Amino acid sequence: MGKSITHKIIEKHLVSGEMIPGREVGLRIDQTLTQDATGTMAWLQFEAIGGRVRTDLSVSYVDHNTLQMGFRNPDDHRYLRTVAAKSGAVFSPAGTGICHQLHLENFAKPGATLIGSDSHTPTAGGIGSMAMGAGGLSVALAMAGEPYFIPMPKVVKVHLTGALTGWAQGKDVILHLLGLLTVKGGVGKVFEYGGPGVASLSVPDRATITNMGAELGATTSIFPADARTREFLEKMGRGADFRELTADPDAEYDEVITIDLGTLEPLVAQPHMPDRVCRVSELAGKAIDQVAIGSCTNSSYSDLKNTSQILARRRIPPSTDLLISPGSKQVMKILAREGLIEPLLDAGARVLECTCGPCIGMGGSPVSAGVSVRTFNRNFEGRSGTQDGQVYLASAQTAARLALDGKFTDPATWGDAPERVELPAEVPSIRDLFVFPPDNAEALSIVRGPNIVALEEFDDLPGTIETTVALKVGDNITTDHILPAGAEITALRSNIPAISQYIFSRVDKEFVARIRELGGGVVVGGENYGQGSSREHAALGPRHLGVRAVIVKSLARIHRANLVNFGILPLLLADPGDYDRLQQGAGLTIPAERITPGNTVDIRLASGETVAVTNDLTKKELDIIQAGGLLNAVRNNQS
Ligand code: F3S
Repeated sequence: MGKSITHKIIEKHLVSGEMIPGREVGLRIDQTLTQDATGTMAWLQFEAIGGRVRTDLSVSYVDHNTLQMGFRNPDDHRYLRTVAAKSGAVFSPAGTGICHQLHLENFAKPGATLIGSDSHTPTAGGIGSMAMGAGGLSVALAMAGEPYFIPMPKVVKVHLTGALTGWAQGKDVILHLLGLLTVKGGVGKVFEYGGPGVASLSVPDRATITNMGAELGATTSIFPADARTREFLEKMGRGADFRELTADPDAEYDEVITIDLGTLEPLVAQPHMPDRVCRVSELAGKAIDQVAIGSCTNSSYSDLKNTSQILARRRIPPSTDLLISPGSKQVMKILAREGLIEPLLDAGARVLECTCGPCIGMGGSPVSAGVSVRTFNRNFEGRSGTQDGQVYLASAQTAARLALDGKFTDPATWGDAPERVELPAEVPSIRDLFVFPPDNAEALSIVRGPNIVALEEFDDLPGTIETTVALKVGDNITTDHILPAGAEITALRSNIPAISQYIFSRVDKEFVARIRELGGGVVVGGENYGQGSSREHAALGPRHLGVRAVIVKSLARIHRANLVNFGILPLLLADPGDYDRLQQGAGLTIPAERITPGNTVDIRLASGETVAVTNDLTKKELDIIQAGGLLNAVRNNQS
């Protein structure tokens, strides 16, 4: 039987396990990336393990919290620069660009494995890298040379035919899939793109699609490395990194989805979920207060060149704000060289720094109840920084066109679509802006400011947990619900005691006071608990507050891994109907010592009733939880 691209890469990097869907496999990791919001913690964890970076390449990016208001962020950035130099990693200073855009342009390689402490790491799948989002601790361990463990995914072939026409873009391909499959549709799966339609998609379009595969809950998404990939890498001055990568003609897949690209039209995801997808035309007439173009999803040269072309010699209405964040200084340099910045400025746009910016709530919040059309990948409630903001997700071309109208309009009235952009023959390099590790690393010291608080040591899991339901939440709870984004909170990511006071703060203001008074507790949730970002603080913070278990109907992949890594039991209701019987405030006894991989045990309620819970944990994961978390388990192994 022929092999898929996914099977070829996994087979080449397999250090343990069998490639049978659902079984755990251990993978050798070639590259890692971290960003500042999750990276400070990942690097503190790496320091706790000890040693130097052992991957082929590890890059520490600063792109999330670049505002540097007060000492905290600059201190974090200095820590990241000095710990990278000392440990043998590349450092990307604030303002150089967004980690995924930069990694795609400068470092990602077809056929390589990459994990990153950011859920949109699959962006690099656009050039054929097997790139996965992971918790910071998993990344720290990979940097130390340890394998990365995942359940062997199922492989879904997305068979593309035809070619995009008119205003339809790569973003519309992934919005179409999200509408079809929902935010849970990709759990445990890799989406591998193939078919004759692939050749018609540019690398930036492919990267937009793999980036937002994260919203499907997928393990990752990947495109073949073909002639277009070669051309992209050659223009980036990295032709030597190219290797052809295709699936065998007779490769078999667990599922096949066919999309005729020629049938797609501009789509938009409505508040507050990326899978609430409809046609742009269905919203015609709705006023738009703000448009934001950028993020790791849509901030490439082609997105912004089209934006500039659409806005040229026109002015956006005064009632609509337009914010533009280029993905990298490389993108910015080409735009400047080709005279494409001036039309943006003349149209009334605010051109921001090359960072995540408004995507992570660093400024650019919409007005109260304001409608914001964003080219980003997430539109969860409150993520924009305005709690009642109404965020819609669209392509850069759709967003730019809507900015001109100041309201949703029917694409049939938009006139000719902009050209499909290719990179210029000569792309200016920004390689000198990265800080490569020096030869005398041993002689360097790591500089820590007062915001860098060393990790606390967690105790191991008791045999019996006497506890209380400290919080009950519903379905699709995101990591933004568990720990909100925003400048004030993100600045505390290297300080767990300080950041923990914000846990569930936008869901239930009393939660922190209550769990402190209870001396710990459990959280009860519905389906897809913990979807969204890879932020391990959404597990670390609850652990600091004494959460020892979550009891839910189902869990998102990365958050589940983070719970395990920090010693929190992820328990699944054996009968989802029992969700109604677990009320906030109920006393519980969890027989932790009787939990074995995949078994079912009864939790006893204070009322005397029982509720059956099961788990999908491996023996190794259970050992980690029983040790009090992965760092404890690694230390136990070392000693
Ligand atoms: Fe940054 Fe937003 Fe992407 S926070 S990494 S631009 S999802």
